[in-house]
Amino acid sequence: MSQTVSTAINASTRLCAVLGSPIRHSASPAMHNAAFAALGLNWRYLAFEVQPENLRAAIDGAKAFGFAGLNLTVPHKLLAMDMMDVLDESAKVWGAVNVIRFEGRSTNSDWLPLRLFEKESPIEIRSVGFNTDADGLACSLREDLKFELRGKRVLLLGAGGAGRSIALKLAAENVAQLFLVNRTFSKTLEIQAAIRKNFPSVHVGLDYPQTEADLIVNATSLGLHQDDASPLNEQVFPLKPSHAVYDIIYRPAETKFLAAAKKAGCKTANGLGMLLHQGAKAFEIWTGKTPPIDIMRRALEQNIYGH
Ligand code: ATR
Repeated sequence: MSQTVSTAINASTRLCAVLGSPIRHSASPAMHNAAFAALGLNWRYLAFEVQPENLRAAIDGAKAFGFAGLNLTVPHKLLAMDMMDVLDESAKVWGAVNVIRFEGRSTNSDWLPLRLFEKESPIEIRSVGFNTDADGLACSLREDLKFELRGKRVLLLGAGGAGRSIALKLAAENVAQLFLVNRTFSKTLEIQAAIRKNFPSVHVGLDYPQTEADLIVNATSLGLHQDDASPLNEQVFPLKPSHAVYDIIYRPAETKFLAAAKKAGCKTANGLGMLLHQGAKAFEIWTGKTPPIDIMRRALEQNIYGH
């Protein structure tokens, strides 16, 4: 990449990281480090395997070290809602946190992103939780599946942190009907209640559709591991060519579920586009700069597809 400017790691290097479990196969470090390099920023992005019982300590540690920000992934996005000092509107609306920005209080009492503190030290540091997943998914559905959500019938598999944000975003985009299926039924009930309150015109069913669906989204973690069962019960709801199918998983690039959908003649996309767009928004939140989206996309493709 000709625009790349490498910067040496030194005492001024700013840090971001993703926390999750499993984390070893995350493509986020490749995407963000390529973007930092392209803009000549002396920043680095790391990945840490963190268990849920250690999440609070890990966030406090990053805060104490003066990290610029964090990403959270499976299984932390819901848990972190109660761990933030402040929730941005996006986290409140979409009900989960996938981006944290650390901010410092300056001597004149303004809260500013930590990157703006160069000479003076902040008096205090706070964590601010954002959600960029929901917008990332909507961008990717438009870009990768050419799918317009308004008036459509959507089957959403999964009601964890990602599933909840996606469900609310789909409702906000005026889908006509949303069908929620999840192993733990109570979570679908909670999402149904939130949608009824905020988007009363959207019909929410708590089972597979009796008739048809235009789009099926997998927001479960089923498919991350080779021997995982399919998130879709095909005995109850068989795949058809009329379905558009989106899997938020990007590694493997083709889950068994996506392979089955392709075989059934469905238009399909994996979660690379969602990862890209949520990451681009996170990059902007942390650095205040316009994300170099093509470079980020190429870094992801290289990392995930190897070309
Ligand atoms: P994320 O933040 O990525 O959404 P999460 O909150 O841990 O991560 O959610 C994981 C999702 O995958 C949930 O919908 C979960 O179902 P439960 O709500 O019942 O836990 C789903 N999931 C994970 N493992 C599963 C399995 N073995 N069978 C069925 N669903 C599973």
